[in-house]
Amino acid sequence: MTDTPDPAQPASQRLFFALWPDDATREALDCTGKWLHSRWGGRRMRADTLHLTLAFLGNTPLEARDGLWPHVDTLRAGTFDLLLDQTGYWPHNRIGWLGCREISAPLAGLAARLRHDLREARVLFDAKPFVPHVTLLRQAEGGPVSSCSPVHWRVRDFVLVASTRGVSGTRYRILRRWPLS
Ligand code: 2AM
Repeated sequence: MTDTPDPAQPASQRLFFALWPDDATREALDCTGKWLHSRWGGRRMRADTLHLTLAFLGNTPLEARDGLWPHVDTLRAGTFDLLLDQTGYWPHNRIGWLGCREISAPLAGLAARLRHDLREARVLFDAKPFVPHVTLLRQAEGGPVSSCSPVHWRVRDFVLVASTRGVSGTRYRILRRWPLS
C-alpha cells in the first residue's frame, strides 16, 4: 500500500447540477440554436452538450462531493413541464441563450432545494441568483430577434455533471442521475 496519489484519480472535479435534455428536447434546443446562430453568429454549442445548470459547484474535492449523496438522495421533488420561450444575450460574456419568460415554481423550487443541500453539506457553489438558461451560442453578437418557437421540456430527472477541459474542448460526463417522482 502507498499514500502516493494516483494521477489517474484526480482529487477534485469541476461539477455542476443540471437538467439534461431527452433526445426530442435536445433536438428542439439544437434547432433553436441553429436559428439563433443564423442571426447572432458565434459558436454553436454541440447538441450533446446542451443543458440547463441548476447549481454550479466548480472545482470540488471528491470527499466533499461524496458528502453530498445523503443530502441529494433524500431530495423529493415532482416531475414538471418547462416552457423555454425567451431568447437572451449577455454582452459581458457574449452568450446567446434560451430561457423562460417566467420561471416556473417547480424549477425555482428544485434549484433552491439543491442550493439548500449544498449549504447543508458545506459544499461551495456559485451563489449568484438563479437565471435558468440553456447556452446555445458563445462568442455571439446579439441583437433584436423575432420571438422563437418555444421548446417544451418534460423534466423527469436531474443530474450531476463533471466537466473536463481537454485539447478538443470541454467534455461533460454525467456522474449521477436522480429521478423526480
Ligand atoms: P453558461 O453556459 O452560462 O456559461 C458549465 O460551465 C455550466 O455551468 C454552464 O452551463 C455554465 O453556464 C454554468 N455556470 C454557472 N455558473 C458558472 C461559473 N461561475 N463558472 C462557469 N460556469 C458556470
